[in-house]
Amino acid sequence: MAKIGLFFGSSTGKTEAVAYQIKSEFDKFEKDMVEVHNIGASTPEQVLKFKNIIIGIPTWNTGELQDDWDVFFPRLREMDFSGHKVAFFGLGDQNGYGFNFLDAMGIVADEVLMQGGDVFGLWPNKSYEFEESKAQVEDHFIGLGIDEEGQQGMTPERLGAWVTQVKEEFGL
Ligand SMILES: Cc1cc2nc3c(=O)[nH]c(=O)nc-3n(C[C@H](O)[C@H](O)[C@H](O)COP(=O)(O)O)c2cc1C
Repeated sequence: MAKIGLFFGSSTGKTEAVAYQIKSEFDKFEKDMVEVHNIGASTPEQVLKFKNIIIGIPTWNTGELQDDWDVFFPRLREMDFSGHKVAFFGLGDQNGYGFNFLDAMGIVADEVLMQGGDVFGLWPNKSYEFEESKAQVEDHFIGLGIDEEGQQGMTPERLGAWVTQVKEEFGL
């Protein structure tokens, strides 16, 4: 079994593409460390099978969860994340939605924290320009922020650095 389960939701494919880029970054350390799943076709049992979990979610409809995550969200309340290490990445558009930048990542992370998960992979927010975000924790985001509309050029470097960080924080 892979060491990490990555679960993403994606409506126009950007988060899915980033999910596979993250898998490729982990492959540089050890082949097939990460198993990628669409949350739209996953059960709570499939998620909790993994001790180390990465969750990928874009924000949609001005501060809302992406559709597949919206459907899955009530199930999070019945899940026990105790003993699981969880890292988040979120996609958003800071120029178009600066008052709700990456909100969905914050909403899902809050729920996972409530259900006992240990959250890793916090990411400094200083290289972004936004007004408000539910994913903000002081001068960090609760996970990696990716903006394929406004800062696409920064994505490869961000992914490489974050994957190295998460691998260490997961103790792998
Ligand atoms: C109608 C619409 C609403 C959006 N709302 C937000 C938002 O509130 N906050 C944000 O950060 N990004 C928002 N976005 C940007 C998306 O999160 C971004 O395009 C993302 O890369 C889409 O990911 P996906 O292709 O995996 O679905 C919105 C985009 C659209 C088209």
